[in-house]
Amino acid sequence: MEKIKETLNYLKDKIDNFKPEIGIILGSGLSVFCDDLEGKSIQYNEIPNFAPTGVLGHKGELLYCNVEGKNCLIMQGRFHYYEGNSMQECTFPIKVMKMAGVKTLIITNAAGGINKDFNIGDIMLIVDHINFMGTNPLIGKNDETLGDRFPDMSNVYDINLRNKALKCAKELNLDIKEGVYLATTGPSYETAAEINAYRILGADVVGMSSVPEAIVSNYLKMNTLAFSMVTNHATGVSNNVLSHQEVLETGKKAGLKLSSLIKKVISEL
Ligand code: HPA
Repeated sequence: MEKIKETLNYLKDKIDNFKPEIGIILGSGLSVFCDDLEGKSIQYNEIPNFAPTGVLGHKGELLYCNVEGKNCLIMQGRFHYYEGNSMQECTFPIKVMKMAGVKTLIITNAAGGINKDFNIGDIMLIVDHINFMGTNPLIGKNDETLGDRFPDMSNVYDINLRNKALKCAKELNLDIKEGVYLATTGPSYETAAEINAYRILGADVVGMSSVPEAIVSNYLKMNTLAFSMVTNHATGVSNNVLSHQEVLETGKKAGLKLSSLIKKVISEL
């Protein structure tokens, strides 16, 4: 709690009239979301208690700006578990957002398509998740002032927000999928056998992030909306060999569609 307050005070000091309502986490390739936005940006490595960053395609910057009339705090790049960050470090910014007054969190990520009906470049609205990371960001002593010891997980991806997103997609003529996101720790991509197993378990896409953030967001009682961009077929779904470059390039194209959708959703919040 002391650390959260310290970080919040730093941000209040740096940013005039710091009152974010909406938090946004941008995944690989989604930096186009910020191309036409102006505001105050701060490098993660200048922010007290933020972990160091360094993955290609992730900027490592916090942007405070106005999006469609709303004050937004945008994470351009996130903290991954596979980088060696603890679960607490990965989700620390979510707690700062909550303390800063954020009510709605929008999470995005790049993911591999497991569902054979999904195409590269598709956008998937996350309806639910499978935590396959073998750990949980809420492990440890619970601070009852933040949330419950055993949080309910039946509406992590808020149904009202999801319906709004579907309506906005329709109005923009965007064909979006809905499905279940399965998170692994990474950093290795999956084997074909693992992907077959995950499909049987009910997963539609696979990725290496977002679930810890969604667990903490739900714990803090923020309304959460999350999208995956299908940047590649998961292993074995097609004959492609996976590369981070492919993920980044497709991320950029799908990123334009997803950016317009998120902006429309925000305009209606
Ligand atoms: N697997 C895991 N994470 C990913 C993938 C994938 O195929 N694509 C983008 N992130």
